[in-house]
Amino acid sequence: MQFGLAPMEGVTDLSVRCWFQLIGQVDFLGTPFLRVTDTWPAHQIPMDFYPEGRLADVIPKPVIPQVMAAKPDAFLRVADRLLDQFPWVDLNCGCPSSNCFRGGAGSQLLAEPERLDHFIQTLMSELGPESVSVKMRTGIHHSDELPSLLKVLKPYKLKRVTVHGRTRAARYGGNSDWNAVAVASEFLDIPVVGSGDIFSASHYRRLLEPITTLGACIIGRGALRNPWIFWELKSGQTQSIDAEVLRWSLGTLAALNLLRAEDELALFDLLRNGLLSVTCGSDADLWQSRFAMIGAYWGVTQPEQLNLPPKVLGRIKMLWNYWRSSLPEVFFEPRLLRLKTFPDMMTRIAEISKFWGHDSIPLSHQSKLDWIYSSDKKKNT
Ligand SMILES: Cc1cc2nc3c(=O)[nH]c(=O)nc-3n(C[C@H](O)[C@H](O)[C@H](O)COP(=O)(O)O)c2cc1C
Repeated sequence: MQFGLAPMEGVTDLSVRCWFQLIGQVDFLGTPFLRVTDTWPAHQIPMDFYPEGRLADVIPKPVIPQVMAAKPDAFLRVADRLLDQFPWVDLNCGCPSSNCFRGGAGSQLLAEPERLDHFIQTLMSELGPESVSVKMRTGIHHSDELPSLLKVLKPYKLKRVTVHGRTRAARYGGNSDWNAVAVASEFLDIPVVGSGDIFSASHYRRLLEPITTLGACIIGRGALRNPWIFWELKSGQTQSIDAEVLRWSLGTLAALNLLRAEDELALFDLLRNGLLSVTCGSDADLWQSRFAMIGAYWGVTQPEQLNLPPKVLGRIKMLWNYWRSSLPEVFFEPRLLRLKTFPDMMTRIAEISKFWGHDSIPLSHQSKLDWIYSSDKKKNT
């Protein structure tokens, strides 16, 4: 079984993808969608969408580019260029947002099987076999729609089909329907990848192990909540880190985000110079060495010296907000998210680590600490 990092718009940008490559044990990663239209992008694909394509020789694990389009021509215009950099391009047929739905893209492609058929047929005849994969939901309103959508996909030699076991109507509510994923993987003759609600190895064992026809799954929110989840899934054991790993890995995440925001070309240079040549896992010295490489750009050697502008600090808080739901409850502290600077955050985390008082900090998702996508728990912030 291969485990990938799911595409997540607004979250899994280059800096986060690099960070997951450093943590290790992830088999592949997906970019968030690039929304293309008849006229955009006019010439070049924006550099920050898929830099890994041009840096493939220094990027350890494959990164799959994803495109969202309402018309085949728009997809083809961009896919043509991406196919110079990666063997296939993923077509987004899953995004539930009203904006893209109204524009005829994302999950709207699942609304009319004939339109989906025409779309895929055009892509396949222009691009050839195995040059396109599809990421889809189980339907618009009900998973009963899935069989007719699978019938559309069956004749085509797609690279793979990823099924998130929810309808558009369900958005992120309820549970991902893994029976529907199993139906897809039994019906289609191409590899099927499952998606939805894997937050631990025990979820994996319960939901996926019974599906013998599945070769891969992707993890989205579960990886943000517990960034070491790929280690847990591969070993079957819950993971723990120590306070120094927490400090240096969070510092590295912040430094990656800052450098991406301030000087993306400098980040590309660091990648070319071997930034991702090691897997840091839960080794504090290796994390420190990665931090040192990035921190040299500003002449800083400690995470506490990083000065993050509000936008970057906001991103780090967003990621910490996910992450804290897998840490012991003392780390949940709402006050941390209200601190005004990154050094203040780091100092407070060090104090909490001391207060925690154990060498090892277990990483285990706790739904009671998890309010994301569940408005009833927002009071916790
Ligand atoms: C914030 C966020 C952004 C997402 N953006 C994308 C995207 O750009 N493309 C895509 O195919 N799926 C996107 N998804 C869906 C995920 O890839 C995944 O299928 C879904 O979250 C279910 O998996 P999970 O329970 O492991 O999170 C997004 C999900 C979230 C939570």
